[in-house]
Amino acid sequence: MLYPIARHFLFKLNPEQAHDLSMKYLPRLLGTPLDCFFRQNLPKRPVTVMGLSFANPVGLAAGLDKDGECIDALGAMGFGFIEVGTVTPRPQSGNDKPRLFRVIPAEGIINRMGFNNKGVDHLVAKVKEAKYQGVIGINIGKNKDTPIEQGKDDYLICMDKVYDHAGYIAVNISSPNTPGLRSLQYGEALDELLAALKVRQQELVAQYKKYVPLAVKIAPDLSLEEIDQVAASLVRNGIDGVIATNTTLEREM
Ligand SMILES: Cc1cc2nc3c(=O)[nH]c(=O)nc-3n(C[C@H](O)[C@H](O)[C@H](O)COP(=O)(O)O)c2cc1C
Repeated sequence: MLYPIARHFLFKLNPEQAHDLSMKYLPRLLGTPLDCFFRQNLPKRPVTVMGLSFANPVGLAAGLDKDGECIDALGAMGFGFIEVGTVTPRPQSGNDKPRLFRVIPAEGIINRMGFNNKGVDHLVAKVKEAKYQGVIGINIGKNKDTPIEQGKDDYLICMDKVYDHAGYIAVNISSPNTPGLRSLQYGEALDELLAALKVRQQELVAQYKKYVPLAVKIAPDLSLEEIDQVAASLVRNGIDGVIATNTTLEREM
């Protein structure tokens, strides 16, 4: 009911302004009579994945709430999980604007954001404030100015900081908007990264006495052979899940 009205006004703004405005005001509407426009009580349809119980299988993908500032308002919409991030060790502003474009005939959007985010400490503070009872996934990445050879260190920094606050951790090696990031999906670079993350996960299990699953988010633009190689590496390294998929580079329209 609300969507056609909201769309009418939001489409008068550019896509990023519309997004920022929505993210700013949704939390303010929560708990007021106006939250009836987005609050939903969905029938329970529980699923268990990676040892985690989800109230229903429909979740929110990473990138909408990069800084975890809207978790409770989004949770009120009925999502079975909310994935926040991608977050990087240090805050960064992302690519130059404009970097978000509507493709109206396809009801789609082109995303060239480049991991704009307020950094992992800010995100963790927001997750700690949230009252949402569903699963919160935290999606981690590397800073743009960290050389790709040292990318692993950025993932480990983020993993240490988010571990105690995440239902699961999503390892984003598939964004097309951070130069070189997707190279981590291949060969020795992938094995080396996943092995290091697995070792750190085991250390963190011992430290926090709880197991937080690791899921690796992959690109949709891999060939079948590359998918086989990624799958073998995920299994070899005992990774708990795969998130398929990130933004594509293909553009048919
Ligand atoms: C504007 C925008 C920003 C996104 N930001 C992120 C991000 O920060 N991290 C990430 O892992 N995926 C990000 N994504 C990818 C989405 O999480 C999702 O994987 C992608 O849109 C494909 O899912 P879909 O086919 O349901 O759209 C972003 C997507 C869009 C459109």
